[in-house]
This record gives sequence, structure tokens and C-alpha cells, in this order.
Amino acid sequence: MSVRDRRPIKVLVFAASLRRGSLNARLAELAAQTAERAGAEVDRARMLDFDFPSYDGDAESGGDLPEPARELCRRIKAADAFVIASPEYNASMPGVLKNAIDWASRFRPQPFNGRQGLLLSASPSMAGGNRGLWSLRIPLEHLGARVYPDMFSLAQAHEAFDAEGGIANAMLQKRFGETIRCFLDLVEAAKHYHVLEKQWVEFLGEHPNQATDRVETTEVEAA
Ligand SMILES: Cc1cc2nc3c(=O)[nH]c(=O)nc-3n(C[C@H](O)[C@H](O)[C@H](O)COP(=O)(O)O)c2cc1C
Repeated sequence: MSVRDRRPIKVLVFAASLRRGSLNARLAELAAQTAERAGAEVDRARMLDFDFPSYDGDAESGGDLPEPARELCRRIKAADAFVIASPEYNASMPGVLKNAIDWASRFRPQPFNGRQGLLLSASPSMAGGNRGLWSLRIPLEHLGARVYPDMFSLAQAHEAFDAEGGIANAMLQKRFGETIRCFLDLVEAAKHYHVLEKQWVEFLGEHPNQATDRVETTEVEAA
């Protein structure tokens, strides 16, 4: 499909690192540029934009949902899909990202429900931070996000970029571009051509209980 044929889709892209010179921020920027070239509208965010306090149930029940959490929630909801480039910390996701997901999950409607997500990682290690993405899948899928099966993890990322911010290895660069474009095709299909209603039930097999149930139904847009 050519860029001209792409029906409108909007993607939120951010890296889950606070660090200046972040490798994941470089990968997120490459994803953003690739998505724009493939015809998507991109909202670039930075983890620094979402400077949350640690999740605190007392703050929440007192109605004190932090403004950065509201902002993240707004931006997820304004997009059809999200792309997260996340570092791997101790074989898992960074705490700052889990904290952001926990805050965002408290809003209603719950913003991840029904959103398409693509996970990327970059690390100096040989596995590119891929283990962290498996841990990141768990809360996102729990919240009803449609996490794309393919995940791109850039190994030895400290020496993987060229001077223009692309991936120096031509084959890897090609795989990266194809992964983004295939993901965007799915986002477009899910937004413009889907006919299936989707229901998110937090704990599907639990005995129904109005006081504790968290159930949301995704509206079906007319194609
Ligand atoms: C607390 C901590 C734990 C880390 N654990 C891992 C790890 O399990 N696997 C890995 O590949 N890299 C690990 N690293 C190295 C990061 O991949 C590396 O610092 C990377 O550059 C961080 O991403 P960024 O450049 O986007 O900030 C760890 C770094 C820190 C600070």
C-alpha cells in the first residue's frame, strides 16, 4: 500500500527512558520518522513529559490524580496505537514505565483497552533488551491492549546507529522498516475496517460482581 492510500491513523510514540542520550529515545525517533513516511500521524512524547509521583491509592481515592497521568491518558486516547521503546532493567521493564501504566490504568474509560501497541527495545547487550518487552506485554495485554506479536530489539545498540540516526546494518534497517509498516497496516485495518465488537473484562472467569467488575466494551466504528 502506498502512503497516498493510507487512511488516517494516529500513533503515540515514546521511549521509556529519562536519560539524555537514551538509545531507546533514538530508536523511538527512528520509529516516529518511519511511521510518518508510511503515512501515519505521529505524536512524539518523552518520558520526561510524564513526571509522575509513585502510584498511591490514597492520592487516587482523594481524587488527586496527577496532571501528568491525565496527560498520558489523554494522549493514549487521542491515538489509535502506541509504540514504546523501552530499556530493559534487570530483565524487566523500568519502574518508571510500570508506574506510568499503573496510573493510566486507573482512568475510565481505561485508555489501553482496544489500542494497538508495538514494543521496541534497545540495549548494548546481545539480546537488545528483549526480555524486558516480555514483561511489558503482561500489564498491557491485561489492560486490553492489542500488543503486536513481533517485537524489535536492537542488540549492541550503542554501536548500531549511523550518523543520520538510522540503523547502520542495512538488513536490520530493512527489517525495522517492514515491522513498522506491517504494524501500521494492522492499525489501519483495526480502525477503519473492523466489524467485531470487543469487550474487556479484567478477570474473565471470575464470578460476576457489580462492586468489583471492571468491564468495558469497545465501540465499533462504521467503516
Ligand atoms: C538498573 C539497570 C539495569 C539494567 N539491566 C539491564 C538488563 O537486564 N538487560 C540489558 O540488556 N541491559 C540492562 N541495563 C543496561 C541498559 O540496557 C542500558 O543502560 C541502556 O542504555 C538503557 O537504555 P537507554 O539508553 O534508553 O537509557 C541496565 C541498566 C540499568 C541502569
